[in-house]
Amino acid sequence: MTGVAPAAGLLTGRRVVVIGGASGIGLATVRAAAAAGAAVAVLDADADGAAGAAAQARAAGASACAHAVDVTRETQVADVLDAVAADLGGIDAVLHVAGVMSGQGTDVTDLPLELWQRVIEVNLTGPFLVAKHAVRHLADGHGVLVLVGSKAGVLTGSGSVPYGASKGGLHGLALTLARQLGPRGIRVHTLCPGDIDTPLMRRSLDEARANGTDGAQVARIEAALGRPEDVASVLTLLAAPASAGIAGTVYTG
Ligand SMILES: NC(=O)c1ccc[n+]([C@@H]2O[C@H](COP(=O)([O-])OP(=O)(O)OC[C@H]3O[C@@H](n4cnc5c(N)ncnc54)[C@H](O)[C@@H]3O)[C@@H](O)[C@H]2O)c1
Repeated sequence: MTGVAPAAGLLTGRRVVVIGGASGIGLATVRAAAAAGAAVAVLDADADGAAGAAAQARAAGASACAHAVDVTRETQVADVLDAVAADLGGIDAVLHVAGVMSGQGTDVTDLPLELWQRVIEVNLTGPFLVAKHAVRHLADGHGVLVLVGSKAGVLTGSGSVPYGASKGGLHGLALTLARQLGPRGIRVHTLCPGDIDTPLMRRSLDEARANGTDGAQVARIEAALGRPEDVASVLTLLAAPASAGIAGTVYTG
């Protein structure tokens, strides 16, 4: 079963930053937030992809801009969030969607340290840096920070050792931020999707096959993939003041 798009006007007047908005769930979120009336800033390491996503949002009638950023670089993260806040006159919601998947089907005994470090850097240090530099723009009593984790980090485990570890760490980060920032009026969530049909997931299934994961198991996952639009609807809802009563970790298909 698939959901419906968020109501038009749900985000009217809200200034929403989508980090990782060039592809997959992030791109669907840019479209959904624009359709819901938000002014959207699209941030991504893929500058062309971010520009394309912002162009799509503008074509749909929204105000939108794009910036390149590598979330593992603190100066870039700080500067881009400051620039976006200056452009938009503030930030109401930061939706941190960016992430990488690597190491599918690789046994822990064969896992190179460099691969571990890269996944942890993007999927865990990145959200930390984004949170660190988003707070000064969100702390006005109705800010929202959503970190996209995964069921792989909190419920099911992952076919990738560093990916599962990074998403478990992200979940702990969000719980801790919620406790620290809640009293300052910032609502923090982890959103944990299941397996979703995106370029990341398609690359991950290919990697699992190449590393010898059982083909029937991979085919079962492939046949049951969810839609990025359904995750984007929930992210858009969480960015809205209407979600003020929701707390903590949110799961989707
Ligand atoms: N697809 C799934 O099945 C699934 C399931 C659970 C969680 N997730 C999570 O959802 C998020 C989005 O995944 P997706 O499937 O849409 O992937 P995707 O590869 O389609 O999109 C990820 C985006 O993140 C950007 N990105 C990667 N590294 C970056 C960096 N260092 N700095 C800035 N941007 C960077 C990429 O350029 C890309 O645009 C990820 O955090 C992923 O772990 C995905």
